[in-house]
Amino acid sequence: MSEELPEAWCDEEGRPVPGAPLLAAHRLRTSGRDTVERREETAAALGVSRGEFDAACAFLDAMTSAPGGAELKICTGVSCRFEGAEAFHSRLKDAFAASGTSLRCVAVHCLDHCLEGPNVRLDLGLTESGRSAAPPQTFCSKSCQVVVDERTWRPPEAGPRPVNDPDAPPVLT
Ligand code: FES
Repeated sequence: MSEELPEAWCDEEGRPVPGAPLLAAHRLRTSGRDTVERREETAAALGVSRGEFDAACAFLDAMTSAPGGAELKICTGVSCRFEGAEAFHSRLKDAFAASGTSLRCVAVHCLDHCLEGPNVRLDLGLTESGRSAAPPQTFCSKSCQVVVDERTWRPPEAGPRPVNDPDAPPVLT
């Protein structure tokens, strides 16, 4: 087993838990051993392609270099919770806390990629005109892909809705 894939990140059958590639990318980066060989080994241990693992690493880079005001939207919708979102988010927050990385986490109802969850989305904040400063990107754990939403014209009210938004309409959970 790869050093970047601790037993705690595998289920009882030894398969990596949802979100493990992103957690492993973080571990690799903070260990200072982020080499081509290690990436190959880690991707193989996770059962993902090298390209998929590189996508997780790139998403991690975007998270760790995000400016103040950026938010990590964590999906707490039914589909993502069913796929292990709570454990994934908790591990991700613990990893970030341990490495001193600060990024505001906001729980939201849905990130519109329900079949690919558990999902997290990086929002880099809004411009003065209230539009997204950069296209938001969503890390979809199941497919280990990053989906970029180029629709920067979408107003914030279009979602995703924070779960504690008092003005949001009721949502079925
Ligand atoms: S429930 Fe998470 S993306 Fe829809």
